Amino acid sequence: MNSSIISSRTPEDGARIYSVFFLRCYDFLIYKVLAPYVWRCGGEHFADLYSLMMSPNHADIGVGTGYFLDRCGYLPGEVRIGLFDLQQNCLDYTAARIDRFEPETYRCNALEPIKTTAAQFDSIALGGLLHCIPGDMTQKGVVFDSIKPLMKPGAKVFGYTILNQGIHKTMLSRLVYFLLHQLRVINGAQDSAQQLKTELSKRYKVVEVRTVGCIALFAAHSPV
Ligand SMILES: C[S@@+](CC[C@H](N)C(=O)[O-])C[C@H]1O[C@@H](n2cnc3c(N)ncnc32)[C@H](O)[C@@H]1O
Repeated sequence: MNSSIISSRTPEDGARIYSVFFLRCYDFLIYKVLAPYVWRCGGEHFADLYSLMMSPNHADIGVGTGYFLDRCGYLPGEVRIGLFDLQQNCLDYTAARIDRFEPETYRCNALEPIKTTAAQFDSIALGGLLHCIPGDMTQKGVVFDSIKPLMKPGAKVFGYTILNQGIHKTMLSRLVYFLLHQLRVINGAQDSAQQLKTELSKRYKVVEVRTVGCIALFAAHSPV
């Protein structure tokens, strides 16, 4: 991969596709087609991670459509949810979808320190964010620094991202990865589970990364 092409990518590239129309198709496309058949990681893996890790004082960074927030086991009044995204359409769509939880919304670029007066959170999800942002995994690791001001002592971070190295790829996954990469919807031709683990381990004492198909599912806590 030509590094000058990678470095010419901007944070906006990874958020541009999320038009109101695309968000209406997102759940079906991602969770009924791409995740199970292309990345070979069914939606139950993401849902299990959420049910294990999401606290009653939760922030979601890179919210998309809020698919898993809408399906969380909490009742209105039991949970505080902060939504953080670069794309206003995603914030609006998700906030409307989960308005029963009266979510807080914050527009931000996760590659920069997130400045907010919001009270800190006990869990932070980065689901599907890392494969959207520019740079290699070392540069993407900056996101774990950006979210630091949002984290209460003892807070847990979790998420998932598409990998392109160190995993078994099918013809279909290669083709779809290539197309999405060319369209700048995703980025990270060199991303591997080991690199992700390295970036997390620089910042947290307890780190778990496991792969299912082309996806890395991760969780971490206790800052170093
Ligand atoms: C693939 S979607 C993930 C949506 C959802 N979390 C899920 O698991 O289905 C990526 C989300 O990250 C947001 N995003 C992309 N780049 C971003 C950045 N630099 N800062 C904040 N959000 C970003 C997009 O707007 C989009 O909402």
